[in-house]
Amino acid sequence: MDLKKIKEFTILNSPALEKYILETSAYPNEHEQLKEIRDATLEKYKHMSIMNASADEAQFLSMLLKLMNAKNTLEIGVFTGYSLLTTALALPEDGKVIAVDPDMEAYKVGLPAIKKAGVEHKIEFVEGNAMPFLNDLISKGKEGTFDFAFVDADKENYINYHEPLLKLVKVGGVIAFDNTLWFGSVALADDDEKFKNDPIMGYIKKHGHEAIKKLNSFLASDPRIESSLLSIGDGVTLCRRKY
Ligand SMILES: C[S@@+](CC[C@H](N)C(=O)[O-])C[C@H]1O[C@@H](n2cnc3c(N)ncnc32)[C@H](O)[C@@H]1O
Repeated sequence: MDLKKIKEFTILNSPALEKYILETSAYPNEHEQLKEIRDATLEKYKHMSIMNASADEAQFLSMLLKLMNAKNTLEIGVFTGYSLLTTALALPEDGKVIAVDPDMEAYKVGLPAIKKAGVEHKIEFVEGNAMPFLNDLISKGKEGTFDFAFVDADKENYINYHEPLLKLVKVGGVIAFDNTLWFGSVALADDDEKFKNDPIMGYIKKHGHEAIKKLNSFLASDPRIESSLLSIGDGVTLCRRKY
């Protein structure tokens, strides 16, 4: 499977437009160590490096965190740490991001850049799986203590992470779910030819397509949140806790 081709299925459906946005707006302002993580990830993981949040999406998340004056945040799914470093750089000196991922090896790829950026003290990395991690935070009395949560792992379980996260973020806090357009597949009918003819789309259909569609419908009708599905990167849904 040629994962390079997956870029053609992002929301813009236009590699040229994506290139324009990245080169004109995102890359010129990308932090040096974020670029180092992007390069190190590409070298080690080749096409799988697309798992890193895109530079334009990260730029948006950074601005959002600053606009919200976020201080305490959560991250589910770290990989090599692109979104994690973005968050740590956006938080104030006494801010903290607690992040979970079972893949310590991937985290080690980005760690030298995180250290170099001087923000390691704002990060608590937990090696493990999201659900026990979230339940553990709840049992430790951390309900209502987080300003923001970024969810970027294990698409099948997004809908299950929503419940504990709604308890953990404070009223007015935000949960951001990444990849909610799932390479444009959410807009295709189940029997669309693309799923049959294109191996990448076939893979996307098999892994997460149903779960993301279910999540999107669920979030749109959840009275406890105000939500907005943004067409940036591969789609990001912001959910603001109302009560
Ligand atoms: C798309 S990548 C995260 C990318 C990262 N947010 C970034 O921008 O660089 C998904 C990550 O989720 C992790 N993951 C998979 N299942 C998980 C689970 N149940 N709990 C926590 N992390 C999980 C994988 O190990 C992988 O590193």
